[in-house]
Amino acid sequence: MNDRRRWIRVASAMGAAVLAPVVLHVAGSEATVRPAAADGPGSPTPLAPHRVAEAAFRQDVLDFGAYREEIEPIFLADRGGYGPGEAACVTCHVQSGTPLRLQPLQSDGSGGVYWTEAQSRMNFATVARLVTPGDPMTSRLLREPLAMDAGGSRLHVGGKFWDSIDDPEWRTIAAWVSAAEPAGMAAASAPAPDFEFFRSCIQRIFLDREDEEDRMECAACHGGGARGFAQELPEGRDYWNEEESRANYGLVMEYIEPGFPLRSRFLTHPLDPHAGGDNYHSGGRRWHSQDDPEWQMLAAWVRGEPTSCAVTDR
Ligand code: HEC
Ligand code: HEC
Repeated sequence: MNDRRRWIRVASAMGAAVLAPVVLHVAGSEATVRPAAADGPGSPTPLAPHRVAEAAFRQDVLDFGAYREEIEPIFLADRGGYGPGEAACVTCHVQSGTPLRLQPLQSDGSGGVYWTEAQSRMNFATVARLVTPGDPMTSRLLREPLAMDAGGSRLHVGGKFWDSIDDPEWRTIAAWVSAAEPAGMAAASAPAPDFEFFRSCIQRIFLDREDEEDRMECAACHGGGARGFAQELPEGRDYWNEEESRANYGLVMEYIEPGFPLRSRFLTHPLDPHAGGDNYHSGGRRWHSQDDPEWQMLAAWVRGEPTSCAVTDR
């Protein structure tokens, strides 16, 4: 099949080069960005059942059969071009270096490619984290490639593929997401995490300058730009005032789902994948276990439970 051969060629021609922007477009200091080489999904060690429950929740309500038949072909589809907005999703998303990391493709020996069922299940687990069951418009999978004026995200380094929500691909994915039972029953009643605790305690994580490997300070990379949540401090001050703290809090809330620590990117991005974290974070890992006192503190805060400050700074 000619078409399939073509995108394989595209994939190798684009190579790692297309991935450079992942690092570059994040606020400021690219010099401090560390390689994410050790960041692979590997073979995760099993988690305790109660920990799996929340993470697996979305997989339980989404239909795997429909995912395999209708959604995965969209990732593979040749789009006839090169680079952002024009190349097949897998051109970029099969390699290490993006958050949506799909499994390596198998060749069928005659120019075609496929994923085994076991691989599709791993993809499914990754993709499930990028959708909100029952709610297409808040699902990252649907917002990243969608034009901003149609309700898409501000930025997708891979470009925009859908001009409107009438696009057939968008509708196919939206139907799959809509068919799933909404995951929000408990979330709707969870209180917003406490601002005062955020101001006085949580923000200290942003500044942690401990020189131990992986205990990186978020502010070094998340000071501004599309993913900034720890605004740069004015000269002469070493902590945020009330107003700045409120702004930081508002930005961090984009990455928090009240009531659900394991659905909150703020907690899963810097958490080791072997401990239930996301497959990929350019900034590395701050927490290697959910038992880390800092992580436990954050989880309690997200659940709206009382907790004491456990930030391990100097
Ligand atoms: C040219 C490379 C490229 C192509 C092609 C591409 N992407 Fe991306 N995508 C990226 C990069 C780089 C990122 C990470 C930075 C960002 O979010 O913009 C990303 C991020 C994403 C995310 C967010 C993942 C997360 O964890 O937040 C989703 C969802 C996504 N892409 C979906 C798609 C889909 C669906 C397609 C095909 C229709 C596609 N992408 C095509 C490069 C690409
Ligand atoms: C060395 C730079 C660096 C450091 C330090 C860093 N990050 Fe990141 N972070 C990134 C980059 C680059 C991305 C976007 C690509 C990705 O998802 O990995 C990102 C993405 C994120 C996201 C997801 C953003 C989105 O749009 O979905 C969250 C949440 C996050 N980081 C939290 C943190 C927290 C919390 C800390 C501190 C404990 C931290 N990061 C430290 C570089 C860094």
